[in-house]
Formats: sequence, structure tokens, C-alpha cells
Amino acid sequence: LADEIRRAGTTVALTGAGISAPSGVPTFRGDDGVWEHFDEGQFTYGRFRRDPEGFWDDRVDLQRELFGEEYEPNAGHEALAAMGRDGYLEAILTQNTDGLHGTVAEAIDDDSAENGDAVSETEAPLLLELHGNARRVRCTDCGARTDAGPVFDRAADGELPPTCDCGGIYKPDVVLFGEQLPGAVMQRARSLARESDVFLAIGSSLVVEPAASLPKIAASAGATVGVINLESTPVDDAADIVRRDDVTEALPRLRSLVEKEN
Ligand code: APR
Repeated sequence: LADEIRRAGTTVALTGAGISAPSGVPTFRGDDGVWEHFDEGQFTYGRFRRDPEGFWDDRVDLQRELFGEEYEPNAGHEALAAMGRDGYLEAILTQNTDGLHGTVAEAIDDDSAENGDAVSETEAPLLLELHGNARRVRCTDCGARTDAGPVFDRAADGELPPTCDCGGIYKPDVVLFGEQLPGAVMQRARSLARESDVFLAIGSSLVVEPAASLPKIAASAGATVGVINLESTPVDDAADIVRRDDVTEALPRLRSLVEKEN
């Protein structure tokens, strides 16, 4: 994989909950996953529209489970960011809403993706947060974004649903089940997958669409596909290289192999 990345013009990484698991963030599936304790049917876009009060009441508990503690990026996030800075990784496409890549890479939002903004001005890799960012909420009327913390505190104190100054209802700034992904961001993600010479799928069960299709898009367009995940995934058979490794072991090792000969 390191050889392929060294030779590649463009390497792109897709990440999922597994990259944040070593930081303490719970994963969604498997033993003790979030969906063992919570009913994912309660967090759909349809329910938010029908019953924002009940949605927010349940979401306060989910947010506490997911982000009740402060998390730090781990060696996996750091290795990807470093590969980006050193010119070996063009973009990180993440399904995670924990914002942890954002502390070491630079995110672009739907507007800048739509404007065709290129790789961020810093040396960090481009970061596309496909499912949004749970550290923010967004007003469903005026579109204003603000920090999630104080709004969740208000909801926990009984303001259900919490509203913006303009009177609009806040929604967590994440993509809910049954909600469209931000169009420009997803389009950008698909074209990065198509353009990639190496596509890495890291720490994801690869069962939730449309993110799960990205490695397949890359493979069909001729990329070398690598999967780094503790458990098997539906993409493994189509992948060129599969590693059943912990991200905090595999990614620093991959980075050192990629950079070894320079
Ligand atoms: N190193 C490598 N892989 C790991 C590690 C680790 N330290 N810890 C866990 N994993 C793997 C697990 O084996 C599992 O296959 O990470 C994967 C996490 O899978 P999911 O919990 O299904 O998370 P993800 O694929 O990101 O879920 C996608 O589902 O509910 C939605 O919106 C939510 O974005 C999420 C989406």
C-alpha cells in the first residue's frame, strides 16, 4: 500500500467511526455500538420534521452518549493529517461528525465545495465531512450555524425544540437518516473517488450509503483500494489490499513506510 501511495498522483481516504474509537468515541455497530443502546429509527429526518420536540428530547441523550466527554485526535488522525501535509494524501472524506479530523485538517463546507474551491489554503489535506458536524447546530429557517453545546444545554433544560433568534427550529448540523447528503460535498467526494489512484477505506463498516459506494466508485475507475478495518466489510472482496489492524497501529506505520525513502 505504501508503494502504491508513493507512486500515486492522488490518494484519498474515507474514514468512519473506527478511526475515532481509540479516542474513546463510541462506534455505531457491533458489540456495545450506539445502535445497541439507541433506536436509530428515533433519529430520522422524518421524525425531526414530524415531532421536533420528541426528536430533540431523545437527541439530548444521544449527544451525551456520543460526545459527553472531551475527545482528542489519536495517532490515526495525526498520521493522515501528516500524510496530507507531506503531499501524500489529497483528501479525507469522513462519515464522522465528531470533528476530530478538523482539529488536524481543514474542512470545507457545501458552499465552498459548490464554488469549486480547491484544496485548502493551508498545507492540510482537504476534509469533507459527509455527514456534517455534531459540534454545531443549524437553524432550519435562516441557516445560521452555532456551537451545539449551549443549544443542547437549553434543550436539556426543557427548551424543546430549541430555537434560533429568528424563531426557526435548530437541527443538529448533521445528516439524519432519510436526509439528503449535502449535494456539492457528495459530488466532490464522488469526483475525488473517481480521480484517485489510491483509495483507502479506514475504520468503517462500509454499510451506510452513499459513503459505502465511494470505494466501489474508486475501484471501478481503476484505483488501488485498501481497506484498514478491524472487522470484515462488504468492500473487502473488491479491495486490492485488506488489513485487519487497529488504526493507531496501521496508519502511523503506513505513514512511516510511505515516507521512508525520502
Ligand atoms: N481500528 C480499526 N477499525 C476499527 C477500530 C480501530 N481501532 N475500532 C473499530 N473499528 C471498526 C469496526 O470493526 C467497524 O467495522 O470500525 C468500524 C465502525 O463501523 P460503524 O460503527 O458501522 O461506523 P461507520 O461505518 O462509520 O458508520 C457509518 O452509520 O449510523 C451511521 O451516521 C452514522 O456515520 C455513521 C454511519
